[in-house]
Amino acid sequence: MRMQHAFNHDWLYSPAQVDLTVPDDAFERVVLPHTNVVLPYHNFDDAEYQFISTYRKRFTLPEPLHGRRLILHFEGAQMATTLTCNGHTFPEYRGGFTPFEFDLTDHVHEHGENVLHLHLDSRERKDIPPFGFTVDYLVFGGIYREVTLRYLPVVHVRNAQVRPRGLLTDAPAVGVFAEVVNTTDAPAECELGGHVAGQPLSTQTITVAPHSSAFVTLDGDLRAGDLTLWSLDTPQRYDAAVTLHCGDLHDTFSARVGLREAVFKDDGFYLNGQRVQLRGLNRHQTFPFFGAAAPARLQRKDADILKYELGLNIVRTSHYPQSRHFLDRCDEIGLLVFEEIPGWQFIGDEDWKCLAIENVREMIERDWNHPSIVLWGVRINESWDDRAFYAETNRIARELDPTRQTGGVRFFLGSEFLEDVYTLNDFSNGILEPEHTPHLVTEYNGHMFPTKSWDNEERRVEHALRHATVQSLAHSNPRVTGAIGWCAFDYNTHYEFGAGDRICYHGVMDIFRLPKFAAAVYASQQAPAQRVVLQVASNWQLGDVKEGLIEPIYVFSNCDTVEAYVGDQLKGTFQPDAANWNLPHPPFVLKDLDALLAKPYGDLRVVGYLNGQPVAEQRIAADALPRKLHLIPDDDTLHADGIDMTRVVIKITDQYDSVLPYAVSVVQLSVEGEADLYGPTLFPLVGGQAAVYVRARQTPGPVTLRARVERLPEATATITLVG
Ligand code: GAL
Repeated sequence: MRMQHAFNHDWLYSPAQVDLTVPDDAFERVVLPHTNVVLPYHNFDDAEYQFISTYRKRFTLPEPLHGRRLILHFEGAQMATTLTCNGHTFPEYRGGFTPFEFDLTDHVHEHGENVLHLHLDSRERKDIPPFGFTVDYLVFGGIYREVTLRYLPVVHVRNAQVRPRGLLTDAPAVGVFAEVVNTTDAPAECELGGHVAGQPLSTQTITVAPHSSAFVTLDGDLRAGDLTLWSLDTPQRYDAAVTLHCGDLHDTFSARVGLREAVFKDDGFYLNGQRVQLRGLNRHQTFPFFGAAAPARLQRKDADILKYELGLNIVRTSHYPQSRHFLDRCDEIGLLVFEEIPGWQFIGDEDWKCLAIENVREMIERDWNHPSIVLWGVRINESWDDRAFYAETNRIARELDPTRQTGGVRFFLGSEFLEDVYTLNDFSNGILEPEHTPHLVTEYNGHMFPTKSWDNEERRVEHALRHATVQSLAHSNPRVTGAIGWCAFDYNTHYEFGAGDRICYHGVMDIFRLPKFAAAVYASQQAPAQRVVLQVASNWQLGDVKEGLIEPIYVFSNCDTVEAYVGDQLKGTFQPDAANWNLPHPPFVLKDLDALLAKPYGDLRVVGYLNGQPVAEQRIAADALPRKLHLIPDDDTLHADGIDMTRVVIKITDQYDSVLPYAVSVVQLSVEGEADLYGPTLFPLVGGQAAVYVRARQTPGPVTLRARVERLPEATATITLVG
């Protein structure tokens, strides 16, 4: 039987390239995911994480081999890994975003101790995508995803893809494409079967030659009446399994799948036969302080932020395959994904291209059962045309996964269209008329209008309106399947990009995933049944805008009506501005509030109504005085496993909990209990808000967090670590 053991604890780490003679006590004990160095959230040099480090692990087999293969599986490490197991050194694996594994079977001691010694090259190696030229993002270093130790039968199902068909007919069916591997010296006679969504698959008998693989497709009928198709609102998932019998050897390959039909057509993107206008943002996988080494909870939280806080229906995993936990969560909550291979504006030599082609294979084979993924990006982001190279990436993608279309992100018109979907970065501040269909806009805004949370109000409002404009134009052109903006979150980058402090302030949220006004443009497009949104895009301070002309005030909301009060005076009742914005929920434009004339100038209160009922309200205090310090962990319970982490948001608000973007104060933080803080203990709240992260140690119990600033009451929060 196959078995899998988590292999994330008790690694030894040295931030230097050291050999086996260096004793264990010269190492630090670490847990994976691990960043090779903890950094400030900005103002650091990428050279600080670009070095070769050493990881070591001593272990005895968690269970006897019983004739199985022993595979050490890495989900991702930045960016070239050389592993030595008990003195045997494997060839270097090059690549930072896709899984890789080593067959330890012939090198382990079944009894007694084994030693893994691993050199990880986290330099920006020019021979490995995305590097070779400049890149507008940082990849960071470390074994930043999980590792497992896997026991596999000598004949096993290496992988399988569930390929539904006819889902919209009354005879839905499924084909499961499986690869069977025989690692023995003799031919293997195998009987294969399985099930999908509770329905049996056909059985088949095959013979697999020694030391080779064979491919089979098992078919099955699905029961139309019983089936819930995977969709954005009902992201139903089913179990699927392929079983193998070979003499007295058994193996089962399992997957969670979703059954849906997703097609880009000339006149739109269709999910289960229904047109869905795609509205999305790009996501980088990096975080402040610990780079890309974010555990499952933070990966899942990002998907939740994109779906529920930002109301998106699609995300592009710019510019590389992202964490399995992120994708699993996209499957669970109904968030579509455009996933692409690593790369950025540069194509290297033949060896480099071979790695990129291998990345296509690794990405698709890892992720082909995720119902959320609807498009494979098989070009290097924003590279020039290269017919032979891209003919090959497309060929491989189509051969491996006939169920999905390909795209490949370009940034110039007239680019050769070898893919199924014409995916274009359109920085025209509008929507260019499609040259080809199906057409999907994969980036807009970004560097055209970088905006910080503490920029002046006019800039923050214009930033929001630019996002609204492009979305509105995309909704107006039936030949545009949708638009995915640049980008969800501010991100760390090289000195050639960004604001000079190594951050690109291109997000609709900051690097801590806290919203700017532009976030509400997206958030307010979701159905109110999912979440009611009402955000006033103003801080209601007359002196912060030119000539005191604070009006009009935009309100991003999915309510049907809003009322605006100044003090206790009703100043107006407003409807969405559908005449100027073609959006599911156009902004409200508040005028004639007479704030300048009112004596005394009062607090702003905006109330949102749905079907005549008040459902949302935001108040902003005219006096803008800091009244509250908030310390809000995203989770009140964490696993005491040394891995689990949560974000802790800190903000200073007025008396109504509206953030004060200029309430720059130094916060003093402390943690009591068995947890570690990622982030400084003295932290200036630039923009009135920021976040730190807390990582559980391995002892259950309470953790108390405290935040203090001058002149406000202390804020505390408790997180319980559970065993
Ligand atoms: C694009 C690029 C993105 C990002 C963006 C900034 O050209 O694909 O990675 O750099 O510009 O606007």
